[in-house]
Amino acid sequence: MSKPEILVARAVFPEVIARLEEHFTVQANQADETWSQAELIARLQGKAGVFTTGGDRIDAQVLAACPQLKICANMAVGYNNFDLTAMTAAGVLATNAPDVLTETTADFGFALLMATARRITESEHFLRAGQWTKWGFDMFAGSDIHGATLGILGMGRIGQGIAKRGAHGFGMKVIYHTRSRLDAALEAECQAAYVSKDELLARADHLVLVLPYSPAAHHTIGAAELAQMKPTATLINIARGGIVDDAALAVALRNKTIAAAGLDVFEGEPAVHPDLLTVPNVVLTPHIASASLPTRLAMANLAADNLIAFLTGKAPLTPLNPAVLAAARA
Ligand code: DGY
Repeated sequence: MSKPEILVARAVFPEVIARLEEHFTVQANQADETWSQAELIARLQGKAGVFTTGGDRIDAQVLAACPQLKICANMAVGYNNFDLTAMTAAGVLATNAPDVLTETTADFGFALLMATARRITESEHFLRAGQWTKWGFDMFAGSDIHGATLGILGMGRIGQGIAKRGAHGFGMKVIYHTRSRLDAALEAECQAAYVSKDELLARADHLVLVLPYSPAAHHTIGAAELAQMKPTATLINIARGGIVDDAALAVALRNKTIAAAGLDVFEGEPAVHPDLLTVPNVVLTPHIASASLPTRLAMANLAADNLIAFLTGKAPLTPLNPAVLAAARA
């Protein structure tokens, strides 16, 4: 019997391609070409599965044009690149890559917070530019992390990881807001107190965004919310582009409505709002929060595991629309 055909939409670890090749005829993209939707559709013809990353959009148009597609396995915990409703309606299974990236991403959230609050990249640029000629009493004086109030918006696994780092490692007071409040045991473990969104914005010295993107979450942080924050506050976005109104943030940073921001994700990335590139009090990184080598390998292997399991008749590990399983395409 011939092996099912799959497409790997982006370059990934060669050992993961090799694993997939044990089970499938694989069309890979190890040259990491950027494909238009039409090119993606052309390559998906005859494929039963596709290995995607967060930038590969699977929507109703793609699904309608690829009737043999049975599963889309995302190498990301976020899945706003999937139209999940359309996938479920088309009977196509969606999977993501949760859990394996939680601690690495929480580490990065903290790294970005510290770089931002302590002005690390700004001061490095100054040094590299040869501008450091003498010590100054307030030179790159930032704000403290230890003992400060850490606000977290969105309190899933990554948010909880950041809360624990702040509370246990840095003696921070942790407050959070999310759609579904944690149970008492988890709140105690995270040493985190639930507050309203308004209180979170007003009280946080450092506010970290870790909520998933959905149309309802678009511009959760805009000009009005930035105006509610302390002028000494820092804002960290490791969630998704579009959750922050980047244009409004650039204005707030320039006007010192808030002190600084650290951004790993952007509206319309990989494009970055030009005004963010010209304000000094922002640390910018190219969507690398989960990018440790062991974690990226674990994410890729989990996406591969989902493809292998589902297309060989076993239960997928991390299905997003399990309703499809009951009525899987013949
Ligand atoms: C995720 O897994 O959602 C991260 O943002 C990496 O894409």
